[in-house]
Amino acid sequence: MGKYVITGGSRLSGEVPISGAKNAVLPVLAALPLLKEASICNVPFLSDVANTIEILENIGVKITTEGSVIRSETGIVRPVIDNSLSCKMRSSVLFLGSLLSACGEAEISYPGGCALGARPVDMHIWAMKMLGAKINTDDNVIRCEAKRLKGANLHLPIQSVGVTENIILASAMAEGTTIIDNAAREPEICNLCDFLNMCGADITGHGTKRIKIKGVSELHPCSVAIIPDRIEAATYMIMAAATGGELFIKNVNTDHMRVICAMLRKTGCIIKEYNKTIYIEAPQRIYSIPYISTAPYPYFPTDVQPQIMALMSTAQGQSVIKENIFSGRYKHGDELNKMGADITIKDNRTFITTGVRSLVGANVNAWDLRGGAALIIAGLCAEGITVVNNKEYVERGYESPVSKIRNIGGKIRAL
Ligand code: EPZ
Repeated sequence: MGKYVITGGSRLSGEVPISGAKNAVLPVLAALPLLKEASICNVPFLSDVANTIEILENIGVKITTEGSVIRSETGIVRPVIDNSLSCKMRSSVLFLGSLLSACGEAEISYPGGCALGARPVDMHIWAMKMLGAKINTDDNVIRCEAKRLKGANLHLPIQSVGVTENIILASAMAEGTTIIDNAAREPEICNLCDFLNMCGADITGHGTKRIKIKGVSELHPCSVAIIPDRIEAATYMIMAAATGGELFIKNVNTDHMRVICAMLRKTGCIIKEYNKTIYIEAPQRIYSIPYISTAPYPYFPTDVQPQIMALMSTAQGQSVIKENIFSGRYKHGDELNKMGADITIKDNRTFITTGVRSLVGANVNAWDLRGGAALIIAGLCAEGITVVNNKEYVERGYESPVSKIRNIGGKIRAL
């Protein structure tokens, strides 16, 4: 595994172009077996995207890429995703819905992905059964079949992003109407629904807790632009806040950044929102945010929890962070403590962070994508040199992080 070597102390300034959203492009790619052909623009160059393209080509969807544009042509689809491919990331589970709909069957080994604690797929399986699939889950492989999926009313016990997306993919061409209650409301789900509606689907209510999908008999080719990555944008805003810097965050959708802007204003940062740009200017030392609690969109995202923890590590005052989504999203706390942070981890979901004047560079480990981003933020504001191991985790979700950070004055290199 590779590493980043970061020399802290630079005040970041300049412009950061935000890429297409990882968590939007992955479900759109999973929808491609439903379409004879399609084109997708503003695709970020990420290892998760490359892995998904490998899955698509392996099951019979021909992919051509030209810069940030992907074109697909779907041949005879083979509804089997090998373990060697599905184990690399969580979002491979989304092929359950699209393969069941496109081929009447699907066989996928249990998905992999960042180790954030238990990441069951029980609700995915429950949802496919509710839509009429027969499912067998012997020897760690999910095997489903359904002559024709039938619409159903599904009330999600948890506002799951992936389960909401899987139901949409499975029911877009099912018989009858499907209603999802307690649906997740993330913008990435709306990007998928807008794409499918442009292809002829009949989906309404996306972005709210109640989504209605009227099954249609076919979908036709179309093109879609991937929305900007709100989590990447938040990560760079926090880098500015952590280094007393000032940044123009370009190509963002400011509607998706409301809670992040509100949170960072509480730390004393000046934030101005323009059409597709956010300007952030940080004070020399930020104030702590007394209480932060993660929740599904539109509230504070779990995918920014590690990064805000790194920021609170050098804030004035104490911050209590509550992680309500994942049971295992805490390992970055131990790594930050190796850099001199004062973080008490209680029950793996509650973190009491007392800001210190400065972190000190150390040899630390990324254990997941956003934890790795948090350690880069810490390294950029620490005294001395920080080595962040397992850089591949970061490359799953951040396009060209080294060049983007160097272009705004950060001292970072990849080994
Ligand atoms: C998506 O994961 C994102 N990934 C995650 O981003 C994000 O953290 C998460 O949503 C929450 O916003 C992609 O979109 C590819 P969930 P997903 O189902 O869909 C439980 C990143 O860093 N659950 O909304 O897998 C689950 O354990 C990644 O970019 C079940 O219990 O998350 C969690 O506690 C990390 N059973 C909660 O629901 C199930 O069958 C919410 O998870 C499914 C989920």
